Amino acid sequence: MQKVQKKMKFFFSPYLTEEYPNYWGTMPMHMFTVLEQIDFEGKTVRPVCTHEGSGMGRSEADLKKCCPGAVIKKGLAIQESSVGRCDAALKNWLE
Ligand SMILES: Cc1cc2nc3c(=O)[nH]c(=O)nc-3n(C[C@H](O)[C@H](O)[C@H](O)COP(=O)(O)O)c2cc1C
Repeated sequence: MQKVQKKMKFFFSPYLTEEYPNYWGTMPMHMFTVLEQIDFEGKTVRPVCTHEGSGMGRSEADLKKCCPGAVIKKGLAIQESSVGRCDAALKNWLE
């Protein structure tokens, strides 16, 4: 994981978009494992979550807990059935 962290620091810009599916009301478990190894100090995270009805669930709150030092922006929830026509929502959210 030390190696992963160094590589991640190298690739990270100050703004990150985290994309994940809602699993059991939050992010998939492996995301916690990876995110907890990363230094988020001074980063801004913009979460995008696909789901089947639960929206962002508690994933934004969980991101705040496992990315200390990061600013977690309001996320965008995209229902799985709308993924193919979410361009406008995505554009609005990014602006
Ligand atoms: C193990 C598992 C748990 C899930 N839990 C939820 C859930 O709690 N709420 C929800 O809205 N969707 C849930 N889903 C549906 C996924 O969020 C949905 O299939 C996913 O966003 C689609 O993205 P993907 O094609 O990248 O997997 C779950 C799916 C799986 C496989």
